[in-house]
Amino acid sequence: MDGMQFDAKALQSRLTGRRIGCRIHYEETVDSTNRVAWELVLGGAPEGTVVLADRQTAGRGRLQRSWQSPPGCNLYTSVILRPAIPPPDASQITLLAGVAVAEAISAVYPGRVGIKWPNDLLIGGRKVCGILTETRMVAGGIDSVIVGVGLNVNMERTDFDPAHRETATSLREETGREHSREDLLFLLCERFEQWYEIFLHGGFAPVREEWLVRAEMVGKRLKVLFGDQMLEGVFAGIDWDGALLIADEQGAVRRVIAGDATIMKGESGKS
Ligand code: BTN
Repeated sequence: MDGMQFDAKALQSRLTGRRIGCRIHYEETVDSTNRVAWELVLGGAPEGTVVLADRQTAGRGRLQRSWQSPPGCNLYTSVILRPAIPPPDASQITLLAGVAVAEAISAVYPGRVGIKWPNDLLIGGRKVCGILTETRMVAGGIDSVIVGVGLNVNMERTDFDPAHRETATSLREETGREHSREDLLFLLCERFEQWYEIFLHGGFAPVREEWLVRAEMVGKRLKVLFGDQMLEGVFAGIDWDGALLIADEQGAVRRVIAGDATIMKGESGKS
């Protein structure tokens, strides 16, 4: 672990004039950067405000899971957005974030960075980053969206909870060297801003195209949990609105708007 605190002032000046990163709110320790971001939203924080912490004591994952957040080694950050888009499109921002983070990682890792629907970034099948998107509606419209990103940067294998040691990884584990968290956050803001502009002006289609290039699930059998239902089938792409498409034995394709997908090991979708 690099054991260094963030130089938030230096980061802020590197991000001068940008939409994403127009303000950096840094605290050494928080319960959850997403929770702090919601507090700032209620206080009127502008779009592009980025919350950053060295450590989280109650990092939140999807589906009520927790996110391991030790100090001095990783990125825990939340971006505040106020997009003027219809409510059903909010989930597309998670996929946009996945593409942006994958590109930021690709600047320091030369191999393939894959995306598992909806929001896990994988290197060699192991999770290196998770994204938690939360939306606030007011009067039937979107008031704000928080995109929380947890990126394992300099964590060592032995630092992971034993339950995740075989399924999670970090950039340090994959490249054999430490990485600057400031540089990665800068890259992340830059890539995020680019994809956000593309999305706001050109819609979801360009994001979808890039997402599919990085899709980890192509040709694979999946188990998908949505609500209290479990669906099994073969990955059949993502729809024009970001929903997962999964084909059953008979070839019938079903849409899943929100859920949790597992890639079934050693099984390809080919019969
Ligand atoms: C997941 O894969 O389940 C999503 C994990 C998201 C973790 C990040 S860390 C920064 C932000 N703050 C949180 O409490 N969670 C997200």
